Amino acid sequence: MKPQPALGAEHHCRLCGGDLREVLDFGSQPVSNAFVKADEADEVPFFRLAVGLCTSCTMVQQLDEMPPHKMYRSDYPYRASGSLLIRKHFENVARHIVQTRPGGQNGFVVEIGSNDGVMLKTLSEAGIRHLGVDPAAGAADVAESHGVNVLTEFFDEKTAADIRKEHGPAHLIFSANTISHISYLDSIFRGVDSLLAPDGLFVFEDRWLGDILEHGFFDQIYDEHIYLFSVRSVQATAARFGFELVDVEHLALHGGSIRYTVARAGTRRPAAAVAEYLERERSQRVAEEATFVRFSAEIDRIRTDLLDLLRELRSDGRRVVGYGATSRSATVLNYCQIGPDLLPRVYDSTPEKQGCLTPGSKIPVCPSEAFADPYPDYALLFAWNHAEEIMAKECSFHEAGGRWILYVPTVHIV
Ligand code: TYD
Ligand code: ZN
Repeated sequence: MKPQPALGAEHHCRLCGGDLREVLDFGSQPVSNAFVKADEADEVPFFRLAVGLCTSCTMVQQLDEMPPHKMYRSDYPYRASGSLLIRKHFENVARHIVQTRPGGQNGFVVEIGSNDGVMLKTLSEAGIRHLGVDPAAGAADVAESHGVNVLTEFFDEKTAADIRKEHGPAHLIFSANTISHISYLDSIFRGVDSLLAPDGLFVFEDRWLGDILEHGFFDQIYDEHIYLFSVRSVQATAARFGFELVDVEHLALHGGSIRYTVARAGTRRPAAAVAEYLERERSQRVAEEATFVRFSAEIDRIRTDLLDLLRELRSDGRRVVGYGATSRSATVLNYCQIGPDLLPRVYDSTPEKQGCLTPGSKIPVCPSEAFADPYPDYALLFAWNHAEEIMAKECSFHEAGGRWILYVPTVHIV
């Protein structure tokens, strides 16, 4: 992986206008969730997936970007309810909201990126005034069928103003795995500013750069993750828009996320965890170019080792498949140039992905029920964040002599 020095095209931070130093380059990559039928597979859009570090506010972000309407089409296949772990997580979030009732009896809760309503469903059942905002109509239909109110739009300052006009101020704006997906983060913060009640909270969960760097989770980098947040860069960004980062909480979910709690500046005393995590990031050197140079060498090592292993298994006549047609797998498959010759199938439980091909790498996705028939010799686990759940569910695969291949933090077999 050779990040290209800024040749002609200069890049500036989307938030502060500072210089972006290119630190990672994954080359040409497809829309990671474009699971399409074979006859559409050549139409999947590609872009250059490269990452830059802002020399001023330290926000790590993609240099180019895939236009949102190409990523979040009405048939966007991701469903938050697909995993037990994730369902439980959102039920806990919802239970906490029901118990604390932000804004009291008539409080209003908005969720940005409500997907299939996995979180808001509980609020709806508890009679809490709520609104989900999500452009993916298919997921929104599922949410609505569970009694969740959804506005099928992209959240931005205009949508926020419209919501405020119709429903009044929000006492809590919640979002999970969505804020880092939105390139116009400035418009999000301005929208939050117009929608949020004076003492309201903006709480969002997103993957944490600290975990990505520490555990070599390079596949967390794909089209949708425009920003790789750190506590430091979120704090700086919140401050630019008149807010303050008042709490952070580390979550094991998705291989390591942080729940950021943001309030209007000066309205709450920041919790000690903010300073703790800033210190932790300083010792991890998350804002230094040299850290990314080491990271990119690790990524190249993984690519070499994984390709060597898959080729060796193929020449030994072993049957190897993929498990979990994750968004993340797009980066692994396309960066390593793994296609159906090395990995003839990927098994996945999402009906919307089954019968389709993986984007760019064109590997058929099969229903996970078919995994056992017959078991392969090895399964490359793309859904490593659900390893425990999947390995428990598929324990007879291992008992029958099958082995899992993992590729982070290094390529290994279990
Ligand atoms: P996810 O964790 O959302 O990863 P990403 O954000 O990279 O898409 O996706 C998990 C994928 O794995 C999803 O397509 C569903 C699939 N999956 C299974 O096939 N079986 C399972 O038991 C679980 C938990 C997930
Ligand atoms: Zn910046």
